[in-house]
Amino acid sequence: MDNRIITSDLLVDEEIDVTLRPKFFSDYIGQKDVKEMIQIAVQAAKKRNESLDHVLLYGPPGLGKTTLAQVIANELEVSIKSVSGPTVERTGDLAAILTSLEPGDVLFIDEIHRLPKIVEEILYSSMEDYVIDIVVGKDSGAKSIRVDLSPFTLIGATTRFGDLTGPLRDRFGIVHKLEFYNTKDLETICKRTAGIYECEAEAKAILELAKRSRGTPRIVNRLFRRVRDFADILGNGFITFDITTTALNKLKIDEKGLDNKDREYLLGIIEKYQGGPVGIDTIATSISEDPTTLEDVYEPYLIQQGFISRTPRGRIVTEKAYKHLKKSFQGAMF
Ligand code: ADE
Repeated sequence: MDNRIITSDLLVDEEIDVTLRPKFFSDYIGQKDVKEMIQIAVQAAKKRNESLDHVLLYGPPGLGKTTLAQVIANELEVSIKSVSGPTVERTGDLAAILTSLEPGDVLFIDEIHRLPKIVEEILYSSMEDYVIDIVVGKDSGAKSIRVDLSPFTLIGATTRFGDLTGPLRDRFGIVHKLEFYNTKDLETICKRTAGIYECEAEAKAILELAKRSRGTPRIVNRLFRRVRDFADILGNGFITFDITTTALNKLKIDEKGLDNKDREYLLGIIEKYQGGPVGIDTIATSISEDPTTLEDVYEPYLIQQGFISRTPRGRIVTEKAYKHLKKSFQGAMF
C-alpha cells in the first residue's frame, strides 16, 4: 500500500496513520531510550535465532505504541497479528489466533488491560511455555487437551498500566513506558509528514504545530492535515506561520496545545470547586465526560504540564494553570 495516492480527506484517521507510520527503527523518531533498549533486544533475539521476549508498552494514547509494535515485527522480519483486548471475547477467539501464529511471529494486543479475565488466563501458559489447554466436551465428558504453540512474541499495549493484573504484568520480559515527545522530536515528525504529503512549510509553522500538539505525534499529524486544508483554501498550499496560527486559533487550540475540553475541565474545577481538591467522578459528571477518558486522554498531559496535580483527596488545579487561563489565583483550599 506504499504507493497509493494520498487523498487524506477520503481516508479515515486510522488509515492515514498507516501511511505516515514509520516502518523501521531508522525512521522512528523520539523515545530514544526505549528505542535503544528494544533495538538491542531485537538484535539479540535475531542473532540467537530466538523469538523476542514479550514486550509491554504503556503510556498515554497517540505516542506510537502500535507503531512501535509494527516496527519491531518489521525489524524481526516476522508477521504481526493485531487485536484489541475488548474484541477478544471468548477463549476460543484467542486460541484460534495463537494456534495460527508461525514461529517468531508477533501477536499485538492493544488495550490489553481490557482483555476478559477468562481470556487473559489462557495467555499465561501461552506466554510462559507456548502451550494452551483447551477444554473439549461438556459436563462429565469434558476433558482438557494441551496444544503446543509456536514460540511467539506478545506485544501488549495499554494506557493503564495499573489496571493490568499482577500475573499478566509479570510475564512480560521487556516493559517500557512511552513518554510525551519533546518539541524538537515533534518538529522532526511534522517535517517528515510534510515530506510524505509533498507539502512545503515554513520552519516557524512546523515549530508552532509541534508546540501545540501536546507532545503527541498523532496530534501533530492531525493538526498538520487541518492546517494544510487552510493553506490549500486560503493560500496556494504553502504552509506559512500565519496560516498555521489562524487555523490553530480557529480550532481553539491554544499556545500550550490545550483544546476546549481541557479548558472546560480546568475551568470546571476552578469555577465550581474553587480549584479543588475534587474527585474525578465529580469532575466528569460536571462536564459530561467519561471519567476514564479524562484519566487516560486529558489528564496525563495536564499533569505533565503542571496544570493539575493528583492528590489522595482529588484533583487540584495549580497556580500555573490559573495564570495560563488568566484567572486570579487565591490559593487552593486544602
Ligand atoms: N509518526 C508517529 N509516530 C512517529 C514516530 N515516533 N516517528 C516517526 N513518525 C511517527
